[in-house]
Amino acid sequence: MMATRRSIAIIGASGQLGSDLSLVCEERGHKTIRLNHTNIEVSNLNNVDNVLSASKPDIIINTAAFHNVNECENDLKKAFSINSIGASHVARVAKKINAKSIFISTDYVFAGEKDVRASYTEKEATHPINVYGISKLAGEGLVLMQDTNSLVVRVSSLFGEAGSKEKGGNFIDKILYKAQQEDPLSIVNDQWMTPTYTLDAAEAIIRLAEKNIKGVIHVTNPASCTWFDFASMALNLYGLSSKIKPISYSSFKSDVQRPHNSSLATNRLREILGEPLRHWENALKHYLQKKYY
Ligand SMILES: NC(=O)c1ccc[n+]([C@@H]2O[C@H](COP(=O)([O-])OP(=O)(O)OC[C@H]3O[C@@H](n4cnc5c(N)ncnc54)[C@H](OP(=O)(O)O)[C@@H]3O)[C@@H](O)[C@H]2O)c1
Repeated sequence: MMATRRSIAIIGASGQLGSDLSLVCEERGHKTIRLNHTNIEVSNLNNVDNVLSASKPDIIINTAAFHNVNECENDLKKAFSINSIGASHVARVAKKINAKSIFISTDYVFAGEKDVRASYTEKEATHPINVYGISKLAGEGLVLMQDTNSLVVRVSSLFGEAGSKEKGGNFIDKILYKAQQEDPLSIVNDQWMTPTYTLDAAEAIIRLAEKNIKGVIHVTNPASCTWFDFASMALNLYGLSSKIKPISYSSFKSDVQRPHNSSLATNRLREILGEPLRHWENALKHYLQKKYY
């Protein structure tokens, strides 16, 4: 059965997740208002108010973020002005115009100290260990504080056709490129996460919006893996026989702490949608076919 037609504004519509959200939104028959950074600046309350009040959407999905984890560490002001205060501005205006607010957040709100076989549920205590995670957690709190009808969607390790705008592509694209330049590739094998295909996440998020789900929810493709597992599978599926070497995160000279295991559990999503998203390996196959063949 088709859902009631809604007017849905997508902030960050040309981004990796935003572009698939826009696509799915249109496919499902909703009026889609694509807002790019040239149309809206989330850190400016007046601008957010003017833009959203003019279009008066029923639902606003905010994907805008400053999410380069290393850069966030050195630019707290920018991290908080976009990820926290910007998130609050959008939720505040949403409340004013009686729109539902959906904020896209991250697995980095967790410390990642769990055993590698375990994953975080929505009910577990958050404890970010870097500036990016802290700024996104503050964003979550500010969004839910404005309106308890809001929805916070945590995704992790995104891969999608558009590639991350801020990071200049996603992990898979970079691996496939580097595999043809470097021999061997060194990839971290002691950080666990749940990869998320933006096309699958977008479909799930729009369905959650149609059902007016509120609170916090994890949206990722099931099963966790390390970056090494993820890269190995991509190379294998793509038919590249490059050598790949597992390394530990500590061998990088980085001052930025990252969670050891930030895998997200998706039981709530499965209960609401009646089925889980496909396994990340199948999502990766679909992605490679769509983008590279
Ligand atoms: N990428 C990941 O692996 C990952 C993992 C976990 C969570 N997330 C979260 O998922 C969301 C989407 O990520 P993504 O990979 O799709 O990001 P993306 O490709 O970088 O897209 C973000 C979009 O937001 C826009 N934007 C940035 N700052 C803005 C501002 N101040 N005001 C208005 N628009 C602004 C960007 O426009 P310009 O590029 O033109 O500035 C871009 O179109 C983010 O909230 C991120 O925190 C991402």
